[in-house]
Amino acid sequence: MPELKETNGFQYLENSRFDRISIQNRHRPAIAEVETFKRYPHAVKIPLPRTWTLEEDQLTPLLQNRRSLRKYSTEPLSLEHLAFMLWASQGITGQAGRYLFRATPSAGALYPVETYISVHSIQGLAAGLYHFDVEHFALDRLTEQDKAHNVAQACLDQKFMVQAAVVFLWSGVFRRAMSKYGDRGMRYILLDAGHICQSVMIAAEAVGCGGCPVGAFYDNEINQLLQIDGDEESILYAASVGRKFLKVN
Ligand SMILES: Cc1cc2nc3c(=O)[nH]c(=O)nc-3n(C[C@H](O)[C@H](O)[C@H](O)COP(=O)(O)O)c2cc1C
Repeated sequence: MPELKETNGFQYLENSRFDRISIQNRHRPAIAEVETFKRYPHAVKIPLPRTWTLEEDQLTPLLQNRRSLRKYSTEPLSLEHLAFMLWASQGITGQAGRYLFRATPSAGALYPVETYISVHSIQGLAAGLYHFDVEHFALDRLTEQDKAHNVAQACLDQKFMVQAAVVFLWSGVFRRAMSKYGDRGMRYILLDAGHICQSVMIAAEAVGCGGCPVGAFYDNEINQLLQIDGDEESILYAASVGRKFLKVN
């Protein structure tokens, strides 16, 4: 089996990185488009009911109302709500022998995704960059300077991100999954990141917030901010989260 950097999985990640120079010469791929919906016009169609009843259904409104939110109230978020989102994404929720299980699934229970947050406006928490210590359900402070602008700039200058109370930044520690699964491990890492982000989006909705997943960033700029090397560990995905504006009737 090839070493990490020689794997197709790693090469793929490397070849699909964004940086400020190459992005200027980026063209749409010469791949023909297809329709959004796959249709089976000749199949028997069975209409589905929309009348499900779930006892004390709290999930339906969260899923129904979730929409990528790019405008946030300036009101700060509470530390409890931030903690809830972190727990919903990566909190330890079970144990079997020496295995600890988390709130989101992970291929082989290897948990290759690390969570960092760029805090801009959380009550009782200094702005800055933090790492989520899953084991101790705590935050490791990396820097006390507010990096909201730097993070937004590194995310292709997506200005709305500066207003978010917090930006989640998810990296992959490739060896965790690839030492067991090789190239296929890269798939699993990306799938894990998707689970995690969706859990944060739903948890955000549950606490009166909204979020926006962000896949557009200059990989190396985020890696530098997080002081991760880009080889053993590299940014995969991000999401901004902030409070919704209260509706005035
Ligand atoms: C992998 C992924 C990457 C995304 N990256 C960005 C992004 O960089 N900037 C942004 O504004 N929205 C981003 N989005 C949000 C999509 O634009 C959004 O999900 C889509 O328009 C559907 O809208 P909805 O989320 O409100 O249902 C991303 C979504 C996904 C799943």
